[in-house]
Amino acid sequence: MRIFWSSLLVVLYALSTAASPQSALDPAGPYANHLRRLWWLMFYTTSAVFLVVMIVLSFAAFRQRAASTSDSLFIPSEPERERRASRVVIGSVVATAAILFGLMLFSFFVGRAVYSRPAEADLLTIEVTGHQWWWDVRYANSIPSQIVTTTNEIHIPVGRTVVFKLNSSDVIHSFWVPNLNGKTDLIPGHPAETWLRADRPGIYRGQCAEFCGYQHAHMAFAIVAETEDQFRSWYENQLKSAPSPMTPTQLRGQQLFLSRPCVMCHGIRGTDAGGRVGPDLTHVASRQTIAAGTLPNDREHLASWIANSQEIKPGNRMPPIPFNSDDMNSLLDYLQSLK
Ligand code: CUA
Repeated sequence: MRIFWSSLLVVLYALSTAASPQSALDPAGPYANHLRRLWWLMFYTTSAVFLVVMIVLSFAAFRQRAASTSDSLFIPSEPERERRASRVVIGSVVATAAILFGLMLFSFFVGRAVYSRPAEADLLTIEVTGHQWWWDVRYANSIPSQIVTTTNEIHIPVGRTVVFKLNSSDVIHSFWVPNLNGKTDLIPGHPAETWLRADRPGIYRGQCAEFCGYQHAHMAFAIVAETEDQFRSWYENQLKSAPSPMTPTQLRGQQLFLSRPCVMCHGIRGTDAGGRVGPDLTHVASRQTIAAGTLPNDREHLASWIANSQEIKPGNRMPPIPFNSDDMNSLLDYLQSLK
């Protein structure tokens, strides 16, 4: 009975999250659409089987009770009854095998559609490296000056298939954007690939889907699907070096950044900061969230994150960095200017 209620809860939850920015039941592209069809087929089939089994079970229990209230405990074996029972058993076994075979066949064709590599022409290739607990993103290009590096927020053009080359720097993670495709594991030393295509613009939430340590639940990312023009202008902006400080406080913030522990781990192109241990901050202010989808990217949250990120995401690699309030304001002015 407990299994029944927990399954029901899972199904109700899945249905309630349909049409959301993180739902496998609200596909925004062809691969997720194949998976959605498989999901619904399995849902309807197994629900029907469950219903039939419950009806037959209730019927049998009722008959058993009626029989046990009669005077005699002795139930004579009748050949006709025996034959009927074996026909029912054989029929059920055949039906079960046929249903399972049907589901397997459908699943096989869905697998083929989802896992056959898209043709090479016009593909956009993005390299994603999983870290505890954030995503390093690099847009591959044969010309080094055309490579974009960013973190946790992946912009893609609508209608174009994007190939992701996946790797991990530490433990096993899993790349999953439910609205766009299924899961692919990121295994250290074992490069993997997945692909997806968004057919309508939107922001689709992705989530690490393999338990990878303390902050696994705070390892989210976003796929921002936009028109080709919007994508182009975003890309052109990301290619640029960080904007120079425009005000005295921004300048002071930059000097603080470059003279404090920040510079050991983070990179800002166009400055001396070249750290690769933590997220690249060249255009940090252009992103919508910080800490891998954990906090909105605004001044207050950025301040509390810098002051003591361990309170927000315990176990992450960034140590608390004490700044007095003047210094903090200058640093925030500078970071928020990095559009
Ligand atoms: Cu990375 Cu879970």
